Amino acid sequence: MEIVICPDAVEAGKLGAAAIVALLKRKPDAVLGLATGSSPLHIYDELAARYEAGEVSFAQAKGFSLDEYVGLPADHPETYHNVIRKDFVHRVDFDDSAVRGPDGLAADIPAFCASYEAAIAEAGGVDLQILGIGTVGHIGFNEPGSSLASRTRIKTLTKQTRVDNARFFDNDVSKVPTHCITQGLGTIMAARHIVLVASGTNKAEAVHQLAEGAVSAMWPGTVLQHHPHVTVLLDEAAASRLQLTGYYRETYASKPDWQGL
Ligand code: F6R
Repeated sequence: MEIVICPDAVEAGKLGAAAIVALLKRKPDAVLGLATGSSPLHIYDELAARYEAGEVSFAQAKGFSLDEYVGLPADHPETYHNVIRKDFVHRVDFDDSAVRGPDGLAADIPAFCASYEAAIAEAGGVDLQILGIGTVGHIGFNEPGSSLASRTRIKTLTKQTRVDNARFFDNDVSKVPTHCITQGLGTIMAARHIVLVASGTNKAEAVHQLAEGAVSAMWPGTVLQHHPHVTVLLDEAAASRLQLTGYYRETYASKPDWQGL
């Protein structure tokens, strides 16, 4: 796991975007795993800017969202289907139909989840997965207690996650759905490169556990310690509880350019 401590979240976003631009240069039809929420917004802003500058195209790429709320009407502005389009997909030349996400209105949820796993596999698997991390340590919506081997399935959101996300629902926690469909930890672990981005002191404990805690279902992101290629992009606040900051800074500062992220 490579930890990169950036001066601020904008710089972290630029590094994440650069990794995606480099991937699409080598592989224009790459498969991207897409996160929603606040954390990846600087990545998406930078990708939109680099697309406008003619530096990158998503025309041949595919995308798979991590998760979706269960039960929100299709035209609700906070479905992750709609959010990822507003925040990213419609700002670049992504083909709308090439970006899929879990169907929170599926009549047969287990059958849908199996078909989502099959669609990711059929696309050749995820080349680069963008992740945020919840204050409770979730990745995707794999809440504490999630099986480290889990695949796409329905989950119950914790009260804390619903409180954290109430800001998108008029600050009214009762409007936040109670259930979601999320890629599992096993699904996320199958991605070839994982770029996790976090900012702010409210993420500092989850980031400390992610990188330096014991691997445990209590902090689901810790499963990434078993992945061979994870890049963690942090601002100073999110890095503030880490124990080995000196080492992480030194390692990144002396990294040869050819290595990339
Ligand atoms: C979103 C997702 C979640 C968020 C996490 C952090 O698709 O899967 O794991 O990444 O809840 O949310 P923000 O970035 O809004 O702090």
